[in-house]
Amino acid sequence: MDQTTTPRPHRGDQLTLTVDTLAFGGAGVARHEGYVVFVQGGVPGDTVRVEVGKAKRAYAEARVIEVVTPSPDRIEPLANHPGAPWQVIPYARQLEIKAEQVDDALRRIGRLDGYVLEPIVPAEQEWRYRNKLEYSFGRDADGRLICGFHAPGRWEDIVEVTDCLLASEPGNRAREEVVAWCREQGLEPYDRRSGGGFLRNLVVREGRRTGEIQVRLVTSPGKLDEESLVRATPSVDGLLWTRTGSVAETTAGGETELLAGVERYEERLGGLSISISGEAFFQTNTEMAERLYALAIEYAELRGYERLYDLYCGIGTIGLLMAPRVAELWGLEIVEEAIADAIGNARRNEIDNAHFFAGDVRLALRELVERAGRPDVLVVDPPRAGLSQKVVRRIIEAAPKRIVYVSCNPTTLAPNAAQLVEAGYELTRVRPVDMFPQTPHIECVAQLERRSG
Ligand SMILES: C[S@@+](CC[C@H](N)C(=O)[O-])C[C@H]1O[C@@H](n2cnc3c(N)ncnc32)[C@H](O)[C@@H]1O
Repeated sequence: MDQTTTPRPHRGDQLTLTVDTLAFGGAGVARHEGYVVFVQGGVPGDTVRVEVGKAKRAYAEARVIEVVTPSPDRIEPLANHPGAPWQVIPYARQLEIKAEQVDDALRRIGRLDGYVLEPIVPAEQEWRYRNKLEYSFGRDADGRLICGFHAPGRWEDIVEVTDCLLASEPGNRAREEVVAWCREQGLEPYDRRSGGGFLRNLVVREGRRTGEIQVRLVTSPGKLDEESLVRATPSVDGLLWTRTGSVAETTAGGETELLAGVERYEERLGGLSISISGEAFFQTNTEMAERLYALAIEYAELRGYERLYDLYCGIGTIGLLMAPRVAELWGLEIVEEAIADAIGNARRNEIDNAHFFAGDVRLALRELVERAGRPDVLVVDPPRAGLSQKVVRRIIEAAPKRIVYVSCNPTTLAPNAAQLVEAGYELTRVRPVDMFPQTPHIECVAQLERRSG
């Protein structure tokens, strides 16, 4: 029923709306008699029929059930792929939107201006760029075992993929080998409603430069015929099996066992040879990570004498790329396996001015300053939530001359940058980098300089 008389709609209502803009995170923004409705799957210029989900005092969330009149901007999607919601927007327009959203976040949320917004760096590949894919198992309408992605807004349903256009061909081949074997064995998918069943997820990682493929099958506790799985997956270089009883929809945790090949996979990046363990974060677009890090190096403006901090350093990649241009590098990261990788990666690449520590930046930064001395240049690359105000205060206390902020979320970069500006830093330049074509995700690098005096 159309709710044209009541301004505030309710869950389950169906409305016909026109999408005006895109919000951070990628939902379309429409208005229903002044009331804001975020439309999942809506593109500016679309008239859509939607069903309302969550309805709050200030806004509601809704999903498209029918595109009544498509936006003139819309293009035909290449694939039914829940991981590529922006594929209906031409790539050049995606880039414009991302650049506008970075500027908008800094200006509106951070109330910042005076910085140079440098042109967005487009992705080298618009498709098949991901080095890591996490698939889920389920059943199709005929009860057949399938492997793919959760359907948007219908968490329990899986959309099958047979050629994932975000993965490389070898990565797709590896997945298909495992899925064919699972079907042959008659294995049951995990049932997200009852908690029964066995097959949960399949994580496929790829060294884009080395061609190494690592596959990790995640199941509930139980047994499988390990030898026949190894025989059935000839294109895999490292085969791992994780058993978990957790009810959470995550591929982390559980007990992991190596069934065949190598436990860690290798990659080459910006002249470094790196080894990556299962639990460590690694940028999912290798080619664009190289571009992102090159930009961070440019913004660091290193002269050779500096003490450099790399906070939230993961396996150490950014700092290690900068290490030949500084006197000392100090890296801090919470995941111990990642720090073990960072130390190993320094050794592999014969870098001897690097020091890495496992610790929570919130608690360990003061201690690092006491131990290492104040940094000249500080790089931060936090998760999407950004830095807490307390961490920003600790950074201000550490008083680096220059901060290079690598951000995967401009809406958290903005308040962090504003707090730094308030404390005497100047936001000098910002450059978005498109790591994730066909998706709303935005990465950018910002440079902040401490004003003298
Ligand atoms: C966006 S990743 C960046 C990793 C690395 N700089 C890179 O480019 O590969 C963020 C990292 O922050 C780490 N992390 C999250 N919370 C942390 C905390 N409180 N203290 C230290 N590290 C943390 C995560 O484990 C992850 O490795």
